Amino acid sequence: MTAHRTRPLRVRSVGTALGRVDGTEKVTGRATYAADHADGVPGDVLHLWLVQSTIAKGRVVEVRPEHALSHPGVVDVIDHTSAPRLVDTENGELAILQDAAVGFRGQIIALVLAETAEAAREGAALVEVSYEAAAHEAELREDNATYRPDSVNPDLETDTFQGDVDAALREADVVVEQTYRTAYEHNNPLEPHATIAWWGEVDGRATLSMFDSTQGVHGVVASLVPMLGVEPDQIRVRAPYVGGGFGSKGEPHAHVMAAALAARTTNGRPVRLAVTRQQMFSLTGYRTATISRFRLGARSDGTLTAIAHDVLEQSSVVREFAEQTASPTRMMYAAPNRRTTHRLARLDVAVPSWMRAPGEMPGMFAHEVAMDELAVACGVDPIVLRERNEPDLDPETGKPFNNRRLLDCLHRGAERFGWDARPREARTQTDGDWWVGTGVAAATYPAMKTPGNLARVRSLEGGGYAVAIGCVDIGTGARTVLTQIAADALGVEADAVDLSIADTRLPSASVAGGSSGTSSWGSAIVAAAQLFRDDHGASPDPGVETTASAEDDPAAESHAFHSFGAVFAETRVHRWTGEIRVPRLLGVYSVGRVINPVTARSQFLGGLVMGLSAGLFEESYRDSRFGHVVTQDLASYHVASHADVLDVDAEWLEEADEIFTPMGSRGVGEIGIVGTAAAVANATYHATGIRRRSIPLTPDQFLDDPGT
Ligand code: MOS
Repeated sequence: MTAHRTRPLRVRSVGTALGRVDGTEKVTGRATYAADHADGVPGDVLHLWLVQSTIAKGRVVEVRPEHALSHPGVVDVIDHTSAPRLVDTENGELAILQDAAVGFRGQIIALVLAETAEAAREGAALVEVSYEAAAHEAELREDNATYRPDSVNPDLETDTFQGDVDAALREADVVVEQTYRTAYEHNNPLEPHATIAWWGEVDGRATLSMFDSTQGVHGVVASLVPMLGVEPDQIRVRAPYVGGGFGSKGEPHAHVMAAALAARTTNGRPVRLAVTRQQMFSLTGYRTATISRFRLGARSDGTLTAIAHDVLEQSSVVREFAEQTASPTRMMYAAPNRRTTHRLARLDVAVPSWMRAPGEMPGMFAHEVAMDELAVACGVDPIVLRERNEPDLDPETGKPFNNRRLLDCLHRGAERFGWDARPREARTQTDGDWWVGTGVAAATYPAMKTPGNLARVRSLEGGGYAVAIGCVDIGTGARTVLTQIAADALGVEADAVDLSIADTRLPSASVAGGSSGTSSWGSAIVAAAQLFRDDHGASPDPGVETTASAEDDPAAESHAFHSFGAVFAETRVHRWTGEIRVPRLLGVYSVGRVINPVTARSQFLGGLVMGLSAGLFEESYRDSRFGHVVTQDLASYHVASHADVLDVDAEWLEEADEIFTPMGSRGVGEIGIVGTAAAVANATYHATGIRRRSIPLTPDQFLDDPGT
């Protein structure tokens, strides 16, 4: 393996709308998702069902399996007294069935194995559990979010300070001081989480094989290795097709360990666990609710002098996760006096985790509504306000941005959206019984690359190339864009590239998360391909092979890399019912070079729709008395569907960020969700003159106004 300093890619296939290379597999139903695997699994599977705690805190006194075991088809019941022991229990979310403690309602407390899924499910219902319950705390409040974490996701400063915010606020001409709230949300990818696991023996050593619905096969191995006390090469994880994750499959959750432990007890029979949609609301991660206190100080023309963002949110006593909600506030706008803080309530609840643009989504909702309020307070157009607060350098690091094109996005969007025709005053437009308004919000997302990626290029008989990297395509189109990148890096047609992914036997790859996949994996592929050509020329003998990682452009050290966007929304709010409709939604983005316009557009549109969904619908309702989320299906947890999304569109600026990656790309997966809920909220204000500061915005929030 060699680290190779990449050269900018000469693009031919990159930038074109190559059809999805796995499209036929998918539309013909041949693509095998984790729970589908029959081939490659040795023998008949046993079905696994989870027994989950019905108390929020305390301990299991006894698990009585007799009734379950007498049910036809039930093979075994495993509890904390009988489960295989883990050698490392530091990860309190994954360390299931090691003792009697219950840390949250819904925790896995027993496993049922059966010959059919139906018998396993019935068996789980027949397991009798007695508990000793203790008092729990499951409600996030402003008075209990007092814990200061050492860092916030992934390893950012918890708090940052510059200048003197309080003095600047005292001297400011205009102050906006408000509190903004975002709801609990649960990731709901189309494919629920699922795992097939089996243990075998190779050369006298136990080996674990898995098909898992994950965003990163190597990450699953890395999590399990210390806990199971095995070497990395004793675990193989594959994920050839994954039906979305939105972050909830970015790290393994406890069900993966459940499958690994259960399979340890079956003498080699594979165990199949398909998590239900309902179980996803208690087990597989969610976005914490957030409470953001914003204080903006400005001169009368809107020039910011102080920005303070104090965040309250929650974590779990079982394992810490601290969302970086104020991180975009650190770099978004210029102001000499700045402050960001994060405090957590450590609750007896399931562990929060990543959900599309963790941090940026809730944080920018708050920031961009606050900016809209400042624009109104100063009597300045919201786009002009942002022009006045454009920083010359990254306010956080002091480095120059490589391509900060927020204003270009705003101006292009304004032109397309017809912003100039917008009435300055709120509550001035009606259409029948509907108040009509428009709003804008900015978006940002950091450009991220994850280290530790390796790619392999091997020449084949007949002039083709096998390209291998162990990354996962969770439905974004990674297989397709990596094929394009490999083709251009090798100087061949896309159909000469035979790409293998999603297997830990392949060169190591980072998680499909943080919008970092294409940048990280693509750079490694370019490195391997360029090195291959440097070493072996244009007509290599078949079977020649190069494995490499990418070395950063030295100029990367001295720059800040972020993507930007501008989201425009039109909303209609019904005068008598408060119903909110969004007839128009437009995002304009600066994301570096777009590798494939079709798959990138899907990411932007999906992000915009998910942001709209957060703005109007998505809310996991936690009943703090019992500690669980009661919205456990897609009937009570509403995600936006076609009828909710009318004219939605995205476009992007032509550019290439060749300092960041040899492809010139910066990542597209998450930025579409950022700012969207704020644009919708700002448009509802413009329509009605009623300012609402928590999402989801619901009809009742627009019913108490006497002006109608
Ligand atoms: Mo994304 S929430 O970083 O998988």
